[in-house]
Amino acid sequence: MATRLPPVIAIDGPSASGKGTVAQGVARALGFHFLNSGALYRAVALAALTAALDLENESILSDIALKLNAKFDGNSVVLEGHDVTDAVRGEDVSVAASRIAGLPAVRRALLSRQRAFRQPPGLVADGRDMGTVVFPDAVLKIYLTASPETRAERRHKQLMEKGLGANMAALLQDIRERDQRDSARATAPLKKCADAVLIDTTGITADDAIAQVLALYKQAPRAP
Ligand code: DC
Repeated sequence: MATRLPPVIAIDGPSASGKGTVAQGVARALGFHFLNSGALYRAVALAALTAALDLENESILSDIALKLNAKFDGNSVVLEGHDVTDAVRGEDVSVAASRIAGLPAVRRALLSRQRAFRQPPGLVADGRDMGTVVFPDAVLKIYLTASPETRAERRHKQLMEKGLGANMAALLQDIRERDQRDSARATAPLKKCADAVLIDTTGITADDAIAQVLALYKQAPRAP
């Protein structure tokens, strides 16, 4: 008898679209596991920056991605035994993560690590290529987005809450540049796949978006 794999809800979209909050809210409501795939790219980037590695060297970086001694739990990241949850959110790591995410060998090296999160009773996976590449058989695929201005405002609020200064114009420019890099790359570019449901969170709350995803999941067709 074929074993049925646990269900996956794939939530993709650009940075600061609210994916993380929505994915975690959905996972909590359903009692599912949660994968923050961006944290994997960020952990590889941090390891590479710490070792002062060349960010163009695909073979060294994919080796790092394969052997990375890292643990991921929700949003927390432990690298080589050190809690690097805050460090991986730093601006230098964000830029490096976006660069190394364009390297096909790094993406391949992270595939099985991401798929290992698919455990009973199910998984909510947050990223850029969850529905297109990592979990193409997801029972529900969501493409979550919001206007660049809304996303810059959200990021601004998050940074202010952490007591960090932030400039709106610079944040907006950074979001636009990252969107461009994530969507223009040749391998697994950020794009809405044909079978994903678009949810625009401009003007709606995270709770509204979570309720929409839960309603869609209830209606999603299941394998017999
Ligand atoms: O979601 P995030 O901002 O933490 O992601 C960090 C970087 O990693 C971002 O530039 C896009 C990239 N990424 C990716 O290419 N594929 C994923 N599944 C997740 C993140």
